[in-house]
Amino acid sequence: MKVHGKPMRSIWLAPDAQAAEAIDQTRLPHALVTVRLTTLDEAAHAIRSMQVRGAPLIGATAAYGVWLALRADASDGALEHGLAVLRGTRPTAVNLHWALDDMRQLLAPLPPAERVAAALRRAEAISDEDVAINRAIGAHGLKLLEDAWARKGRQGRLEVLTHCNAGWLATVDFGTALSPIYQAHDAGIPVHVWVDETRPRNQGAQLTAWELGQHGVPHTVIADNVGGHLMQHGQVDLCIVGTDRTTAQGDVANKIGTYLKALAAKDNGVPFYVALPSPTIDWTLRDGVREIPIEQRDGTELSDVTGRLASGEVATVRITPEGSPAANYAFDVTPARLVTALITERGVCPASHDGLLSLFPERRGRA
Ligand code: MRU
Repeated sequence: MKVHGKPMRSIWLAPDAQAAEAIDQTRLPHALVTVRLTTLDEAAHAIRSMQVRGAPLIGATAAYGVWLALRADASDGALEHGLAVLRGTRPTAVNLHWALDDMRQLLAPLPPAERVAAALRRAEAISDEDVAINRAIGAHGLKLLEDAWARKGRQGRLEVLTHCNAGWLATVDFGTALSPIYQAHDAGIPVHVWVDETRPRNQGAQLTAWELGQHGVPHTVIADNVGGHLMQHGQVDLCIVGTDRTTAQGDVANKIGTYLKALAAKDNGVPFYVALPSPTIDWTLRDGVREIPIEQRDGTELSDVTGRLASGEVATVRITPEGSPAANYAFDVTPARLVTALITERGVCPASHDGLLSLFPERRGRA
């Protein structure tokens, strides 16, 4: 996508080819700053601290992280250590494990002398594949938005609600949930996006609002609890969100609060779509509520809020009483029965095992 008119991805190989560089998302929207990742530990820190975040981008960063680990030491032991360190960074997004399994399968059989170059080639390929996948998700999702716009008689605005950030910042480029929105906007459909603020990290208020603004897509930030009210009053035509892990039967884990939006959508007859690249499908799991590991993060993310003061200085302030504990669940699971359809790079399908198998028939009979 473009930032200040210039094409930009969320992560890329540094011009000197000695590091990966990424947008530091902890600094947005107040500053557009990049971070240079030169070691395994820096890559792991970037994922853990959410300088990079969003399931597909976590996967791509982990792939670069393996390359960085091998640059220091390409032995079997260093490969396994690097994989273990990266695997321990965040638990919910399965793209991390997908990317690390992919890298291991490629690199473990190679002689150490060949591993560094092969790791970089594969990390670059994973990034490029993510871009192509998200472009295809956008094209398939666009058809759903065109249909919704036609159903509305092409009057007024097409009102879309999204939660968290599943835009280009969460992927290498284009995004998952936001990719159809960008394509619809570019095709001339007057889309307006209700952006859930997405407490406690405010990915909606800080990241989604920023990237929609960069692309000129009309949007309004709302408090997390507003969506149900808007749906009751006919002000949401459809919801689109991303996912960090989708089970083989179509249950989806996504940023905390997604489930409540899906319940409200069901109660009000509003279509609720989930956009995902195939590396987000965990074919080994069925029951998302019981089986998907839900990350719990530090309570300070809830008790402390960062923003820009009138002076221009960016500061962090505490908003809860000293001594009040905070429980910070980062994700929840939306059961497949609440999901109208899944949007993947291969097309749109029902959120069910049969639905997924209709698009991924090669998985038939496998775990
Ligand atoms: O904690 P985060 O910011 O990594 O969570 C991100 C999300 O929940 C996104 O909606 C999800 O990764 C899909 S991104 C294409």
